[in-house]
Parts: sequence; structure tokens; C-alpha cells
Amino acid sequence: MERTLVILKPDTVQRKLIGRIIQRFEDKGFKIVGMKMIWIDRDLATKHYEAHVNKPFFNSLLEFITSLPVVVMVLEGTDVVEQVRKMVGSTDCRKAEVGTIRFDFGLSIQNNLVHASESIQDAEREIKIFFKEEELFSYDPYKPLSTV
Ligand code: CMP
Repeated sequence: MERTLVILKPDTVQRKLIGRIIQRFEDKGFKIVGMKMIWIDRDLATKHYEAHVNKPFFNSLLEFITSLPVVVMVLEGTDVVEQVRKMVGSTDCRKAEVGTIRFDFGLSIQNNLVHASESIQDAEREIKIFFKEEELFSYDPYKPLSTV
């Protein structure tokens, strides 16, 4: 089953939007198979954002992403990489489509609340950066539970 990496960035944590954003992914039908709060350091941020190291905004991005803890999670589901990117919206919140997370909650290009893997290959690489195999769970959410 396809998986993607989502990061709820420092602005999501600061603005207490963690629950509302996770709710959207659950409502859509995606399964959370791994989740934790971590404080990203500069080395980890450089590894994750390796494609952007030569961009003019890289230093600012590094400052931002290391400024507060973040929530990292792995979502699983059909076509999850593309569907989550659609739910998140364009990088620049002001250009994001109406109804996307970035449109609904943001106004900035850098402080855009959420990171979501761009492709299946990126997702595989990024998940390995943030999660050990034993931190990801296979489970059947429809399994009947004991009611005792
Ligand atoms: P993300 O989808 O995590 O991928 C790279 C991040 O860099 C992006 O979200 C933004 O947080 C940030 N970013 C992208 N473009 C710019 C820009 N022009 N100026 C500042 N930050 C940017």
C-alpha cells in the first residue's frame, strides 16, 4: 500500500492547528501508520531538504523548520502521495486552491504549515529519514475490538 510523509511544521504547532489538520487526513480516509513529535536539527533538515540546499531561501527555511518541534507522520492509502499533495495545495499559501490546507490556514510561502512528499520515490526516501521500520505499524482499523 502506498505511503507518504507529512510534516506539520512549526507554524502548525505554534498556531495549535495540529488536531484540525490531522482531522482532514483522517476524514479523507487515510490511515496514520506512524506519528511522533520531534525537534528537527540542522543536519536532519539539510538531509530532508537536500534538493533545496542551493536555493536562496534555504537558510531561512532551515531557521524556520528548526525553530519549534514538528509532528511527523506517515499516511497510508490509495494514491496517498498525489491525494495528500492536492489536499495540502500549492507551496505559496496565497496561490493555493480554495479549500486546501494552505489556502484555509496560511498566507506565507515559507510558513506553509505542512510538508507532503512530492512523489512516491521522495516519500520512500523521506520516510526512511524520519522513521525506523519498527516505528511504522501495519494494522487493520476495522478489526472488532473487545468491549469489556
Ligand atoms: P515544502 O513543501 O516543505 O518544500 C520546501 C519548503 O521551502 C516549502 O515547503 C516552503 O516552506 C519553503 N519555500 C519554498 N519556496 C520558498 C520561497 N520562495 N521562499 C521561502 N521559502 C520557500
